[in-house]
Amino acid sequence: MDSPSRSGVFQASTDARLESFAESISFDRRLYHQDIRGSIAHASMLQSVGLISAQDFTQIRDTLKEIESEIDAGQFPIRLELEDIHMHIESVLIERIGDVGRKLHTARSRNDQVSTDTRIWVREALDRTDALLLQLQRAFLGRCERDLDVILPAYTHLQRAQPVLAPHYWLAYIEKFQRDRERITDCRVRVNQSPLGIAAVAGTTLPIDREQTASALDFQGITANSLDTSSDRDFIQESAFVLAMIASHLSGWAEEWILWSTVEFNFIKMPHQFCTGSSIMPQKVNPDTLELTRGKSARVMGNLQTLMLLVKNLPLAYNRDLQEDKPPLFDSFDTVTAMLELAIPIVAGSELQRDAIAARIEEGYLDATTLMEWLIRKGVPQRTAHHAVGAIVGEAMKQRIPLAELPIQTMQRHAEQIDESIREVLGTQNAVAAFSSYGSTAPHQVHDQIRRWNERLDDA
Ligand code: ARG
Repeated sequence: MDSPSRSGVFQASTDARLESFAESISFDRRLYHQDIRGSIAHASMLQSVGLISAQDFTQIRDTLKEIESEIDAGQFPIRLELEDIHMHIESVLIERIGDVGRKLHTARSRNDQVSTDTRIWVREALDRTDALLLQLQRAFLGRCERDLDVILPAYTHLQRAQPVLAPHYWLAYIEKFQRDRERITDCRVRVNQSPLGIAAVAGTTLPIDREQTASALDFQGITANSLDTSSDRDFIQESAFVLAMIASHLSGWAEEWILWSTVEFNFIKMPHQFCTGSSIMPQKVNPDTLELTRGKSARVMGNLQTLMLLVKNLPLAYNRDLQEDKPPLFDSFDTVTAMLELAIPIVAGSELQRDAIAARIEEGYLDATTLMEWLIRKGVPQRTAHHAVGAIVGEAMKQRIPLAELPIQTMQRHAEQIDESIREVLGTQNAVAAFSSYGSTAPHQVHDQIRRWNERLDDA
């Protein structure tokens, strides 16, 4: 059977190679709920404006619902010659109710139909992603009280830098995922505009009511220019970007925890149900989930690239190239969903290796900057204090001892302002307590942030 989109103008039937080249049913079948919802809203509008009768509408709606249940139940034959999910559903409708079914596509094109369906799908998928991000934020927040007693090294250049409270790390990720959630909210506004009724490219001469279908489909508004709308895939590209950012955050976190779970770091132990073993080395507990999170993020970023390249050279308006938008779009959502679903229990269930962390926390001179700032408070210019503390750290390194164990006299040789009260800021515990600025790891700042996030995420 030939595609119903081939009108009387064709003098040859479709080559079988084109059929399999051009089909999209293998991936766009997952739009069937959205397609049926869109068609029912469209048919209802056609009835309101008098383009079809009330009986036509009832018949179309009931048959579409019947088809939906059959697809739900997996009883829906795929026929490649019908190209995509839109033609599949419409063809079965016509097979069942004949001429009434032939009226459904009045004042509509697959171009606005596919955009409508995809926007509804993306909107729902963004909401699911947001809910998972919230759960992940809650998993990090749940750790905060539990890990308040732990001091970790903060790194720059992966070299030990300054001491921070462990919850300061968890709050850092909560902030990143909050920005991701804000991007979702923002992107959703542009996704949530109804394209239905722009028809193919120029609109229609028929008296349709676009506002009606938009509100029936819970869109916030209607798009203003048919040429723009027919070509517009910004909403897909933006969603792919939002997902690429989430993947980037997850990948960085995964890399960090992979390092932290090495014998060399020994900061964290992951729940064994999310680790794998080695077929030859019996001692291995490998962090494959995190490695795959890092690895799969590459594909999510690649999908964004694919979508950018897909659209960049297209003249207005719809071009068939655009059919290629769905595999990368779906893949990005599926991949990020799977990554988040695993990150949540890993974050909640991993255990900091308190003893191992504490045993080495005085290594690496994490309190050197605090000592420098102590001197600045005594009136020493920053550059001078920086140089002096460098020399003091050099002495301590030679003796292989932490700053807190260096005799006061040795320190005074480099900075005469130093006296016994310096002990109050030496050692990581004291150094952490000495912080004060907003956004720092000062214990009162961290407590405030935890309280603030508890309130924010409770309301969410
Ligand atoms: N399967 C197509 C897509 O996803 C539907 C639109 C086809 N439109 C057309 N004029 N050939 O883009």
